Amino acid sequence: MQVIGISGSPRENGNTDVIVKEALEGARLAGATVEFIGLSGKRIEGCRACAQCGEGGKCCIDDDMQALYPKLIASDAIIIGSPIYFGMITAQTKALIDRTYFLAKTGRKLENKVGAAITVGGRAGHEFSAAYLMDFMTLQGMVLPGKAFAQSFSRELGAVAREEKAMKEAKSLGERVVKLANKLNAP
Ligand SMILES: Cc1cc2nc3c(=O)[nH]c(=O)nc-3n(C[C@H](O)[C@H](O)[C@H](O)COP(=O)(O)O)c2cc1C
Repeated sequence: MQVIGISGSPRENGNTDVIVKEALEGARLAGATVEFIGLSGKRIEGCRACAQCGEGGKCCIDDDMQALYPKLIASDAIIIGSPIYFGMITAQTKALIDRTYFLAKTGRKLENKVGAAITVGGRAGHEFSAAYLMDFMTLQGMVLPGKAFAQSFSRELGAVAREEKAMKEAKSLGERVVKLANKLNAP
């Protein structure tokens, strides 16, 4: 059982990195092998709509997304966390999402993986951002547990570590993701 946690924050060791890692800790304690992927410092361009991915079998953009495709394919569950910027997920998170078009076009490779969302923002935009992340997941054919999201209301760097409720929620989300993936993988 492989669970990936992606943080779409450009701020390394920021609140999103911290809370996504906490969700992964929940998943690990529930028996999964986990991997954290932070997008800070990674170069992931937006999709160019080249329309060749269905034919060529390779995304035409040679950037850091190439190394992420095999990890996404091999995973049983994917937790995506994003800071909220002007009421929505970050550009970094959206670029990664759009680039998963390649995985849809080459055989619906995210189908039946478990998904969950984490949003981090001081105030506004949690509902839209979480709803968007969950909508993306269902469009890719992913399966979501009940209450498939966790929220942090932290703004200052590192504040989430003191946000007990959010950290607890994230850990529980990680556990529940593994429970559902186990059910889906059961013979
Ligand atoms: C460009 C920018 C826009 C932001 N817009 C919002 C917003 O619309 N709503 C909100 O609640 N927080 C907003 N914030 C605050 C961040 O979401 C918050 O600081 C968050 O903790 C950042 O996550 P990180 O520590 O993982 O980078 C914004 C921050 C930046 C830099």
